[in-house]
Amino acid sequence: MKSNSIEVRPVAGALGAEIHGIDLADSLSDEQFDAVHRAFLDHQVIFFRDQVLDPDSHKEVGRRFGDLNIHGYYESLPGHPEILPVLKEPEATGNIGGVWHSDVTYLPEPALGSILYALEVPPAGGDTMFASQYRAYESLSDGMKEMLEGLRAIHSSDIFTNKARRDAANSIRTTKLTEVDETIESSHPVVRTHPETGRKCLFVNGAFTRRIDGWTAEESRPLLDFLYRQAALPEFTCRFRWQQGSIAFWDNRCTQHYALNDYQGYRRAMHRVTLEGDRPV
Ligand code: SIN
Repeated sequence: MKSNSIEVRPVAGALGAEIHGIDLADSLSDEQFDAVHRAFLDHQVIFFRDQVLDPDSHKEVGRRFGDLNIHGYYESLPGHPEILPVLKEPEATGNIGGVWHSDVTYLPEPALGSILYALEVPPAGGDTMFASQYRAYESLSDGMKEMLEGLRAIHSSDIFTNKARRDAANSIRTTKLTEVDETIESSHPVVRTHPETGRKCLFVNGAFTRRIDGWTAEESRPLLDFLYRQAALPEFTCRFRWQQGSIAFWDNRCTQHYALNDYQGYRRAMHRVTLEGDRPV
């Protein structure tokens, strides 16, 4: 499919498309922006190859799509608070994002999306998987959809602020968590409606969701465990093989992602910019 000289090649049945014919370091024309934005909404995560972005041009690309978020818990790239370095040196054993999740869902207004740029990748491994939360929701029975209607869930940043967990993470990872002790909690609908497409999707994840609002953690666990499995069924996923200069731009409102940690002894270096989102409804 060609649109405005951009080629959009889907990579899987559920989500994901490679975009060809765009150099993101050149300012996008309005026509190009519209075509990329359309592909982003249609495919939920879009991929680019062979891009050359320094931190300033990376931020400029991000700003074309929205305001930039500052993570607040991870150390940022020196001189660029809006860039999260997703680094893993050969001797580190832990990675960032090695669990199915959407970014920063503990915020009252979680991210719209993130743009991850590969500076250095291992010879094999280090892929990222993505899962469509539209498909995860749409495949539920009518009875389950009815039960979820109106439920809200509590999301928390406690994995970043609990000292023991933070120290444990920092002892095995390259990018460090800073000593911020303030935990952020927010309540979001378990099923949200995407503000741009109007489609419904699941909005709970194993990294940040703690319980159903108004239920105990123990009462919540069976339902949340079921929804986490549903969220990441293989049929709802795609898997991206990185190369130096690759970019993944995911819609954080309707996808989850999982960074594979299967490249021990090699370096993987990425920069992420994250776009501010809105209050889920
Ligand atoms: C993340 O969760 O943002 C990291 C994803 C990755 O490194 O592939």
